[in-house]
Amino acid sequence: MHVTVSEFLETGDIMIIPLFQDTEKAPNNSTIGLSRSASIAVKSAISSDGFDGKEKCQISIWTKECQIILLGVGDKNKLTPKKSRDFGAKCFSNLPNNQGRNVVIRFTAGWNNQNMASFAEGMILRDYSFDKYQKKKDEKNDSEWSIICQTTKRYTKDLDLEINRLSSIATGVHLARDLGNEPANRLYPEEFGRRALEWSKGKENVEVEVWNFSRLKEEGMNGLIEVGKGSVHKPCMVFFRLNPTKETNKQVPCIVGKGITFDSGGISIKGSAGMDEMKLDMHGSATVFGLFQALHATGYKGRVNGITCMAENMPSAEAYRPGDVIDTYSGKTIEVLNTDAEGRNVLADGLWKASELNPSYIIDLATLTGSIVVALGHEATGLFSNDDSLSGRIKKAGDEVDEICWPMPLLPAFEKQMTSSKIADVRNQGKGRWGGAIQAAGFLKQFVQEREGENGEKSQIPWAHLDIAGTAGIWGGESNATVSHGATGIQVRTLHRLITSK
Ligand code: BES
Ligand code: MN
Ligand code: ZN
Repeated sequence: MHVTVSEFLETGDIMIIPLFQDTEKAPNNSTIGLSRSASIAVKSAISSDGFDGKEKCQISIWTKECQIILLGVGDKNKLTPKKSRDFGAKCFSNLPNNQGRNVVIRFTAGWNNQNMASFAEGMILRDYSFDKYQKKKDEKNDSEWSIICQTTKRYTKDLDLEINRLSSIATGVHLARDLGNEPANRLYPEEFGRRALEWSKGKENVEVEVWNFSRLKEEGMNGLIEVGKGSVHKPCMVFFRLNPTKETNKQVPCIVGKGITFDSGGISIKGSAGMDEMKLDMHGSATVFGLFQALHATGYKGRVNGITCMAENMPSAEAYRPGDVIDTYSGKTIEVLNTDAEGRNVLADGLWKASELNPSYIIDLATLTGSIVVALGHEATGLFSNDDSLSGRIKKAGDEVDEICWPMPLLPAFEKQMTSSKIADVRNQGKGRWGGAIQAAGFLKQFVQEREGENGEKSQIPWAHLDIAGTAGIWGGESNATVSHGATGIQVRTLHRLITSK
């Protein structure tokens, strides 16, 4: 999709005029460039009782020049960027496929820049499909959409800048979706590493490094190794570095992603129903990759680190088993009670490694527990943190882009369950099913290092854990129009916002 901004000039193949409730007269500008008869048709439709501008009210007018769609967007005072984004997304999904690809959107009276930009963003985000494996594509029109957002002259420059920024961020969202949707026989740990290296090629200010299986062994990254060794596709750790030579004496963020390219459960094997969805169990790593794309595309000048822990969790003669004890990279040992609680094992090494980079804060993203889906459904990501200020900033950034991160407690009782193994330092499963997402977060917390503050006292590095199990696949259910199916690219926009806003 190519989006541009202009004044009210051309009419396009399809012209969309989003109108507020109780618009009784066609706004000035709405009919510029239309023939006399088309203009009369638009004016009469807007003044008629058939169109009231309420949400969901939509009428089409066919003229010689173009198809005109009057789109009701409800009460002007109730329009928010979120609603506007969803209007844009829905409007895009309803566009006729046989009327040409040049779409003009006429934002007339009452539209401000933020709502216009969000409308366009909704269209951009929704313009995504994962159809690379559909061989029978001949009837489909695959050519690129051209969208012209029309507004009054005083708005055009700012709107253009903002839409450019949003569409750059969307390239990261779409990349994350691509990675998430990729089946596990196509995207396994080494392939993720290869794609990351390929992505970094020719980009001066990014660096990608992949630690393969033998390097992981040298480093003692046994959390990752144990989970991944049962698969023929061996595990790896991928490092993303943006602007690595900048701000080298400053603490910068480190974002860590769970990258289980397929989670069969391992020896503690899952049931068959819905197991295909476990190709999405690498969405944390997909979000990290997508975030770096978004940061790069928007020209972010600061330094940022990313780490993804890639493994395929499979049962085999070489797989790890319940009862095994893992020597993790941190030096702490894990008693494995369930091989299906694998995400936390790989993140143990990722978080410890992240801590070594002396970051300003660490955020990990993981499709970690079914339990968070029970708690929050598909509406919000679970947000756990050892730092109220970091948590507040993530929540705010999420709210601003409408990817809700809902604060969850790190209750000490659950943490205690995880550190009460009889034979190791921590156990990878709690003592019952209740509070499963909090148990998992309590486990992760054991692998965030402490460091000495200015006052000489030791405290843990600020850290937040985002459990995206409910939002990576279906997000918002009926309440979100920006994704139609499959991986959502969740939290790319939130983290981009968090990192780039001062
Ligand atoms: N990848 C799953 C969690 C998951 C469930 C993600 C549903 C997306 C949708 C994770 O590795 C897992 O299996 N967790 C177990 C942990 C349990 C064995 C302690 C769970 O939540 O049941
Ligand atoms: Mn699992
Ligand atoms: Zn998993």
